[in-house]
Amino acid sequence: MQVPNETIFTMETTPLKFGAGATDEVGYDLKRLGVRRPLLITDRGLVHTGLADRVRGALREADLSVDVYDDVHVEPTDASWEAISEYVSGRDYDGFVAVGGGSVIDSAKAANLFTSYPAPLTDYLNQPIGKGLPIPGPLKPLVALPTTAGTGSETTAVAVLDLLSLHVKTGISHRYLRPSLAIVDPLNTVTLPPMATAYPGFDVLTHALESFTSRPYDARPRHRPDERPVYVGRNPVSDLWCEKALEFLGRSLRRAVLNGYDMAARTDLALAATYAGIGFGNAGVHVPHALAYPIAGQVRDFLPPDYPGHTPLIPHGLSVISTAPATFRWTYPTSPERHVHAAHLLGATTGGLTDAEARDVLPTTLLALMRDTGIPNGLSALGFRETDAPSLVDGALKQQRLLMGCPRSVEAADLHDIVCASMQHWT
Ligand SMILES: [Fe+2]
Repeated sequence: MQVPNETIFTMETTPLKFGAGATDEVGYDLKRLGVRRPLLITDRGLVHTGLADRVRGALREADLSVDVYDDVHVEPTDASWEAISEYVSGRDYDGFVAVGGGSVIDSAKAANLFTSYPAPLTDYLNQPIGKGLPIPGPLKPLVALPTTAGTGSETTAVAVLDLLSLHVKTGISHRYLRPSLAIVDPLNTVTLPPMATAYPGFDVLTHALESFTSRPYDARPRHRPDERPVYVGRNPVSDLWCEKALEFLGRSLRRAVLNGYDMAARTDLALAATYAGIGFGNAGVHVPHALAYPIAGQVRDFLPPDYPGHTPLIPHGLSVISTAPATFRWTYPTSPERHVHAAHLLGATTGGLTDAEARDVLPTTLLALMRDTGIPNGLSALGFRETDAPSLVDGALKQQRLLMGCPRSVEAADLHDIVCASMQHWT
C-alpha cells in the first residue's frame, strides 16, 4: 500500500580501523584495497608536525610509490578544489590517502570525484545552489586518517566547501563520497592544543545532539529509492551511535581539553567523533549547523586561540556550539524525553526534575561544558551584534537541506529568536 510517509531508513558507514598505532598499518590497507600509486593529501601544518612524513614512510615501507599534495587550506573553497583537482588530473594515481581534519578529507573526496568523473562543480553541488546530480559510479579507494576528533568526515558521504562567488557554504552529498576506510589513531590527536581540541569536540557534540533530536525518518515524506537523501532523519540505529557518543563526551570532553596527554580521554573523544559521524552521517543535523554556515562566513575579526595564522576565522565547532543551547531550548517540546536523556548522558542529574528544570537541563549542561572548556561567551564575543541577526538568518535559510532535519517547522522568526538568544550565554 502506498502511504505518504517514509517507512524506510538506511544506515551506511565506512569500514573502521581504530586504535593507538593504527597509522602504521596504512600501507597494508592500501595494498589490500588494490592501490599501488596513491596520492597523500595533507596540509602544511601536518607536514610540520612530522605526521605526513611518518605516513609517507609507512607507505614507502609497503613498496608503494607515493606523491604528496600538502597545499590544503582550512575551510576549502571552489578555487582550492579546482587547484587540487587540476594537480591530480593527468597523473595516474589509483587511490588517495587523506591525513588531516575535515578540510583535508573533504578536499580528498572532491579530488577523487572530479578526476574520476569530471564535470562542472555545479552539477554535483547540492540543490538549490547546484543541480545535485548523482555521482555516476564508485570512486577510487580513499583511506582517511583524521587528525582531529571532530568532523567525522572520515565516515560521512558529504564534502563541504565555501563557494566564493556566492559567499555561501554548501557541499556535495552522495554515498560514493564515503571513504573506503577510516584509520582512527587517537595518538595523532595528543599534541593538539586546548582550543583545537575543544572546538572540534563541540562539533562532535552538536552532531550527536542534532541527530538525536532530528525529525524522525518516518515523520517525513516518502522517497523513491534513488531520491532518498543521505540524511534520512533519526532512526533506531542512528540513536545508538549518538547516545554512545554523548556518553563518551560527557565523560571525557573536559578532560581532553584540560590535559591533552590524558590518553583515555583522547581515546573517548576519537571514538565519540567516529560514533557521532556515523550517527549524523545517516540521520542528519539541523538548526545549529544551518546557522553555523553564515556565522563562519560572516566573521569579522575573531582570531581563534591555538589556531595558526592571522586570518579571522570562526572554526566550525565554535560556530555550531554558539547557537546550540538556544536551539535545544526551542526544540525541547518536540521530544522532552530525548532532551532530558541527552543531558543525562552528558553527566547531568536528571532524576526528580520539575517541568521547568527538565526544560532547561540540556541547555544548562551545555553551558557548563562550554564555560569549563573556554568557549567564548556567545555570538557577541565572536564580533556579532543583534543587528547582524537578519543576515545570519538569511544565510541559514539557504541551508534547506539541513533545516529539513529540524524536528519542528522553522521560520525566519524562529531563527531570529535563536540568534538573539545566543548573543550572550552567561553574565
Ligand atoms: Fe559539523
